[in-house]
Amino acid sequence: MDFEKKLHEIIRVDHAGEFGAKVIYNGQIVALKLKKDEETLKLVEHMKKQEDVHFDYFNEEIKKHKIRPTVLHPVWKLGGFALGFLTAIIDKKAAMVCTTAVEETIDKHYQEQIEFLEKSEQNQVNQINLENLKNKIQKFRDEELEHRDIAYENKAAEFSAYTPLSALIKSTVKVAITLSKKI
Ligand SMILES: [Fe+2]
Ligand SMILES: [Fe+2]
Repeated sequence: MDFEKKLHEIIRVDHAGEFGAKVIYNGQIVALKLKKDEETLKLVEHMKKQEDVHFDYFNEEIKKHKIRPTVLHPVWKLGGFALGFLTAIIDKKAAMVCTTAVEETIDKHYQEQIEFLEKSEQNQVNQINLENLKNKIQKFRDEELEHRDIAYENKAAEFSAYTPLSALIKSTVKVAITLSKKI
């Protein structure tokens, strides 16, 4: 595939993914406020703040390089919010399982992108600063791992009953990634 096209896909899918993360946590925040669960709310608000920074970076890149965002934006907006709201309204464990499932899938996804960008560093054929893009993805990946760890530290031992929910969320995120690259 054309190298520039591939870079555009990377930015498009990450833009969609970080948007998804934002709305998932937004959904959780609304549910946690309803439940007056201040403790969990604090954790989720911390993660949401980092997702805002992640999203803003890709949003700038999308504009700067005139990359078309995914047409699925409205779908992720609704689906992400619902996922966050429902998991957090069920209970804290479900909310935390949602985070581990999402962040683990994103971790793999970012890892693949970092490897791709490392291999392509000599391949400077366009206006996108590859070194900068790679560094950002690396930083964001570290923060996603921090989110995953926060979730495991909160109710980690009680996760086994939630394996089907986790598997469902993981496969949904994988489908979302595949779709958001292309359309
Ligand atoms: Fe993120
Ligand atoms: Fe995250």
